[in-house]
Amino acid sequence: MSDLAALEQRAQAELAACGDEAALRAWHTKYFGKSGEVLQALKGVGAIPADQKRSYGQEANRIKQALTHAYEARLADAKQQALDRSLTAEMLDVTLPGRPMARGRLHVATKIMREITGIFADLGFQVYRSREVEDDLTNFELLNMPPHHPARDMWDTFHTTTPGVILRTHTSPGQIHVMRELCPEPIRVILPGMCYRYEQITTRSEIQFQQVEGLCVGESVAMTDLKGTIIAFARRLFGQERQVRFRSSYFPFTEPSIEVDIDWPKDDPNADRLTKGTGWLEIMGAGMVHPVVLRNGGYDPEQFSGFAFGMGTQRITMLKYAIDDIRQFWANDLRFLGQF
Ligand code: DAH
Repeated sequence: MSDLAALEQRAQAELAACGDEAALRAWHTKYFGKSGEVLQALKGVGAIPADQKRSYGQEANRIKQALTHAYEARLADAKQQALDRSLTAEMLDVTLPGRPMARGRLHVATKIMREITGIFADLGFQVYRSREVEDDLTNFELLNMPPHHPARDMWDTFHTTTPGVILRTHTSPGQIHVMRELCPEPIRVILPGMCYRYEQITTRSEIQFQQVEGLCVGESVAMTDLKGTIIAFARRLFGQERQVRFRSSYFPFTEPSIEVDIDWPKDDPNADRLTKGTGWLEIMGAGMVHPVVLRNGGYDPEQFSGFAFGMGTQRITMLKYAIDDIRQFWANDLRFLGQF
């Protein structure tokens, strides 16, 4: 009996000294495992003189119950403490506002493209998609630039390993495709898309850039139609108060050819630098479609006439938003792209 009392005391003392769940479990194995001391003590009843067996057995069972209860209480305690600790240490403030999801947006080039196509849609122009990989014939020759025409110097070209197959240097070859497809119907289309030039990359020129070409062909299309269309477009994009100026120019595929400027707000602090002191900014080239080009598209220049224009949309966007470096467009820098 005194052994039992000593066992209980020792077990309780060791239980009290257990610091965590792992220690508690070790304690449990020591006393309640297969050869644990409590079970051994219970088995020990066989060696007890008969007259003491009963009280020994009762005492051993009482100790077993008491230790089991004490153990379970300590274990529950240890679990609660571990939970409390993790709740304070890894505190989660559910009242904090959530992290905002970064929302995607359209690229500024796409936005401007949509704005431009939207304006021309209102003017009755449809969008015609044309290929980016062209042949020399369509990019140059059919646009009235034979192989050794000096005007070719205006376009530095990317050639492929297949002779005569190039990346288009402008959207103008699309004029040939659309005329050949629609002839002899009248045409009013814009041709947006990527163009490529083998050039030094600077703040003002890239090797790839977008253009929007326009083409209108019919039986009595005149220069006044071109001017009206361009004025309406420029004022929708840059503001109703804009003045539009037409200068005579030269392109092989138009005759006569013009270049189009808009006046720049004088109160813009950048006005002088942008316009080089003239007050005017160039936005596109244009003209009446050259008879040779009309004929190459299948239209008889005696019966049909047309106007065409072409603009670089990155340049237009740079003007509209005072962007000073064209390389920003394809650099994928979110600090730039996030501003639009
Ligand atoms: N293709 C010319 C260029 O890339 C732009 C252009 C000028 C297009 C006059 C036209 C036009 O249709 O009539 O520089």
